[in-house]
Amino acid sequence: MALITLKDIVMPQEFELPAKLSAQELEKDSSLFEQAKEAIKKHKALLIAHYYTTPIIQRLAEETGGFIGDSLEMARVGKESPLNTVVVAGVRFMGETAKILSPEKTILMPDMGAECSLDLCCKGSELKRIKEAHPNATVVAYANTSAEVKAMSDWIVTSSLAVELADYLKGRGEEILWVPDRHLGGYIANNAKTQVITWPGRCIVHDSFEAKEIAKLKEQNPQAKLLVHPESPAEVVALADKVGSTSQLLAFTKTDDAQTYLVATERGIFYKMQQACPNKTFIEAPVGPRPGVSSLDGAKCPWMALNTLEKIIESLEGDEQVKAKHSIEVDESVRVDAMKPLDRMLKFAAAIKSGNVPNDL
Ligand code: 13P
Ligand code: SF4
Repeated sequence: MALITLKDIVMPQEFELPAKLSAQELEKDSSLFEQAKEAIKKHKALLIAHYYTTPIIQRLAEETGGFIGDSLEMARVGKESPLNTVVVAGVRFMGETAKILSPEKTILMPDMGAECSLDLCCKGSELKRIKEAHPNATVVAYANTSAEVKAMSDWIVTSSLAVELADYLKGRGEEILWVPDRHLGGYIANNAKTQVITWPGRCIVHDSFEAKEIAKLKEQNPQAKLLVHPESPAEVVALADKVGSTSQLLAFTKTDDAQTYLVATERGIFYKMQQACPNKTFIEAPVGPRPGVSSLDGAKCPWMALNTLEKIIESLEGDEQVKAKHSIEVDESVRVDAMKPLDRMLKFAAAIKSGNVPNDL
């Protein structure tokens, strides 16, 4: 189906990636495990971690009654929890989403510099300009966007529901303006068989998966199945045995009967996959160089890697000034506007689950 990719969008040409933590820094961080557990308990906090965080952060969430999940589940759990302090270990849009949905709660992030290249690719001022050029289009924003962009959108969606939403909007005869991931935009257009006008943004990790190298790896491992996140290029998606969000890929490995998987998504997911299937083998899919991206450490998101135990402790135990450095704030008028499409997403997710989707969401 037709995919129209927007041209002349002002976006970063180069992505400045944070430095990788050294082996000594990682070792020092792991020695803080008990202290981090204590801090979470003392402050009655809930730790919500994305699957892409490091194994030690995910273990901390497990051992403190916290939660590990995909971006949709993180949003839902943060809202539903009775606890007033939530630490979001992920990237900034995840913390912002939690704050938009729960303004009364203190939402802490270990590192405010944890960006997402998709978010960086879509500035509110650019979206305003494009919306003016497409006044009749329904703006569907990926969750990986700023609060400002969410506030300008009709719908928010995560990868776990994107095709279903496109199908739903197609049924209502709506034209989709999709921001900001070009690959997910193409995936939606193909699978919902509808026209999509897409922003040309990219996830620097998933965009780097190399179809040719993956095809070679498949040949070397003929029994293995390839798992692909839809933020990956179409040529990689075309090779997949299963395409899905992080949660969907993980769920697949639990019920599928293969013994070996090639995994084209961020390395952090291996922790939960290996835990769920201790006897299966998971192999990281190869990445290649891309313009504007230097020194990618394989399929590792450099911003997710900024989440450390030391920073979690600091966010909870620091003085007021330090805490403020970790505390997510969203301008109230932006928050109120961003709440509407987010709320719609949660209602849509619940309706899909119940099997009864009203036509007027
Ligand atoms: P999920 O919604 O699948 O968790 O993906 C979030 C993300 O950042 C993917 O790169
Ligand atoms: Fe963003 Fe990609 Fe990192 Fe996910 S893996 S947070 S999409 S840069």
